[in-house]
Amino acid sequence: MCGIVGYTGPREAYPIIVKGLKRLEYRGYDSAGVALQNGGLHVYKKKGKVADLEDSIAGKNVHAHVGIGHTRWATHGEPNDRNAHPHQSASGRLAMIHNGIIENYAQLKSELVKKGYEFKSDTDTEVLLNFIEEILVKNDCSLEEAIRIALKRVVGAYVILLLDAENPDTIIAARKGSPLVIGVGKGEHFLGSDASPMLEYTKEVVYVNDYELAIIKPDELILKNLGNEKLTPYVQKLDLELASIEKGGYEHFMLKEIFEQPQTINDCLRGRLDAVAGTITMSGIQQYAEQIMQTNRIIMVACGTSWHAGLVAEYIFEELCRINVEVEYASEFRYRNPVINPGDVIIAISQSGETADTLVAIETAKEKGAIILGVVNVVGSSIARTSHGGAYTHAGPEIGVASTKAFTAQLSVLTMIALKVGYMKGTIPQQRYLRLLNELNELPEKAAWVLQQHEKIKAIAEKYKDARDFLYLGRGYNFAVALEGALKLKEISYIHAEGYPAAEMKHGPIALVDENLPVVFIATKDPYHEKVVSNMQEIRARKGQVISVITEGDEHSASLSLDVMIIPEADEIVAPILSVIPLQLLAYYIGVSKGLDVDKPRNLAKSVTVE
Ligand code: M6R
Repeated sequence: MCGIVGYTGPREAYPIIVKGLKRLEYRGYDSAGVALQNGGLHVYKKKGKVADLEDSIAGKNVHAHVGIGHTRWATHGEPNDRNAHPHQSASGRLAMIHNGIIENYAQLKSELVKKGYEFKSDTDTEVLLNFIEEILVKNDCSLEEAIRIALKRVVGAYVILLLDAENPDTIIAARKGSPLVIGVGKGEHFLGSDASPMLEYTKEVVYVNDYELAIIKPDELILKNLGNEKLTPYVQKLDLELASIEKGGYEHFMLKEIFEQPQTINDCLRGRLDAVAGTITMSGIQQYAEQIMQTNRIIMVACGTSWHAGLVAEYIFEELCRINVEVEYASEFRYRNPVINPGDVIIAISQSGETADTLVAIETAKEKGAIILGVVNVVGSSIARTSHGGAYTHAGPEIGVASTKAFTAQLSVLTMIALKVGYMKGTIPQQRYLRLLNELNELPEKAAWVLQQHEKIKAIAEKYKDARDFLYLGRGYNFAVALEGALKLKEISYIHAEGYPAAEMKHGPIALVDENLPVVFIATKDPYHEKVVSNMQEIRARKGQVISVITEGDEHSASLSLDVMIIPEADEIVAPILSVIPLQLLAYYIGVSKGLDVDKPRNLAKSVTVE
């Protein structure tokens, strides 16, 4: 949450920072601001999106070779100009941006208030900044030293970037628990919450670790730990192209990402799955194969859409591997003193690899001796680096705030892991194993087939867009798809939607059903299909508007539905990867038809790096 950008070098800093902030807006868009070094510190900030900031600055002198910028997802203090970053210290000497939460800010603030400090904003950031300045003045030390001392008192998560009017070519950065990437150019450096702001300038990057502090000048990068020991920056080559973070002709990132799924599923399978040879190669899993086979239980930890992927995977692992699986909301798991024994296997599922709750959950489990496997999309992210092993989902950058292609990639990876483990354990009959490999192989083509219905789904969206509530029902593997369909609709269209197990509907939600309620059934062919059809009848009998996702050729379910979205025949284990796609499109088109900003829905941020 919150995006941060920085630049120091010979180029004009402002255009680089603004372009970078636009790429990071998926992280938060409550307000934006920049601080520039130009014969003193110049700070500009504005409530709203980066475009509002640009408008407010138009015509001003923004010439500078050093600067920092921020796009905010509000935690402490409402979104307004005052609370926007950068903040300036009481003396005006320092400017700072921050991503994270300073949990003990109230304590620090009261200490500063007693010393006579006054605050212009309601933020924890301004408190930390003045705390640093207080140490700087009191100890008459370097800024770097003051930051080190201050951070030893801080409880919470942060990435901070500071400018100092007395050292105009330098940016000082520090991180704990929030991401920070430094791009290394020739005589210049770039900073970002991820690598997207620097893609056209350099492919050489350093991922800063927790408890590290960086002093960055145009031609020098000094990395230290909080004990003031120098570290050697590990420069890595970025494997990311500019085109992957642009809309490529689509109206929204979300639509582009939905349509990318045949390709991203393919990318995820490529080099791993060989249906002809009957093999799955995943080195990051292979290393821990023995432990996974021997474990009594696997715990999946995740949030949001990734948690839904975990729910589908629970059913898959239990069926194919005969291992007991628990799926936990990371935010609950970390706080309830869960029983974790050495040798337990934890699978952390995360698109961003930066979700704070998931990260802390696996750190806690790791300390207790568990083996952590990450199923993560963003290469080099904190969760990927904290995990012992795992597998990347290779879906490419997902920029739309609503997760789409990451979900189908997560399911593809988790299915491969379950197949690999189950085959090694001997819990999957050979024939079923080979059939499922083929089923996986056919997914890209089938996903493309599903997407061809986009015009029809757009018309369905138009028909139901004014409904006040939606109910999504599914059973077995499709139960989690119902949850995911409802989540997508809520996020993008602000329509209240609930996902429920189809049979459980009779135990309460059926009371909601009347002629105004659209009920979306995920009713693809599987062993419980007839039961789901009975549930459809029950909804129809109460005049609910039945919309369904069905398998090609299922005339009976079609006859019970007002509108249908179709997937091709597929084994029930892989069917969720297809049945979720029409629901993504339905949510997208409803959001668009309501005139909403589907890529940046209100109050949300792509990467939830605060608790
Ligand atoms: O990056 P992660 O997968 O860890 O993110 C988890 C959730 O924050 C995320 O899935 C969120 O629910 C999305 N907005 C869903 O579309």
